[in-house]
Amino acid sequence: MKFFKKVKKEKDVNVALEIFSELASSRLAQRLSYPLLTLELKDINGEKGIEMEYLGERATRGAKNLQKVKEALAFEEWILNVDLKEEHVLAKDGFAYIIDHGHSLTAWKPLYYVQQIIDSSVTRFNLWSDQESFMEGVRNIRGVNYDEVRKVLLDSAKEVLDANFCKLMTSQVAEENVELSLRILKYRARILDHLYN
Ligand SMILES: Nc1ncnc2c1ncn2[C@@H]1O[C@H](COP(=O)(O)OP(=O)(O)O)[C@@H](O)[C@H]1O
Ligand SMILES: [Mg+2]
Repeated sequence: MKFFKKVKKEKDVNVALEIFSELASSRLAQRLSYPLLTLELKDINGEKGIEMEYLGERATRGAKNLQKVKEALAFEEWILNVDLKEEHVLAKDGFAYIIDHGHSLTAWKPLYYVQQIIDSSVTRFNLWSDQESFMEGVRNIRGVNYDEVRKVLLDSAKEVLDANFCKLMTSQVAEENVELSLRILKYRARILDHLYN
């Protein structure tokens, strides 16, 4: 069964940046093998949105992939997901998945806010993690290739542009957000070992 998350209707460029941040987060996570769903942009009867697997349960620390979930806390900090909370960890067939990355990277963040939080831990749920699991996540993330990261960001931005979610999302806005996201990721990777709390 599928779940369809409709795109928000506000006339705000962040509506499009939110989709960019969802797509990019999911694809980065899958490269690093963290449990985020595969997302597909769709237009269903004129309504645009993101289609993904339907998750019918709330996740618990009994999840079969608990270790990966614990390590994913470093990922969530890396991508500046200010909206990670316990309700955003759902499950299917005993496997947990972290949903809703619409407030990761630059989405809904004016530059002064990015500056305010850039050196801080931003998550509001710790994914049942511990220092050792978090540090395993940090090591994994520090092995990432930034040419590949840039490609994921560019491809995600292009898809969002092509899907025409918001007229305010121009190719220049897309480019600026890819570059700023990349700077955020490089900077957060450097300080990530200090962000466990
Ligand atoms: N894949 C999914 N399967 C089942 N329910 C979902 C799924 N994704 C989201 N939901 C439900 O919809 C709610 C809103 O989705 P979310 O991604 O958090 O959107 P929003 O950006 O509006 O916060 C979630 O809290 C959850 O209850
Ligand atoms: Mg949500």
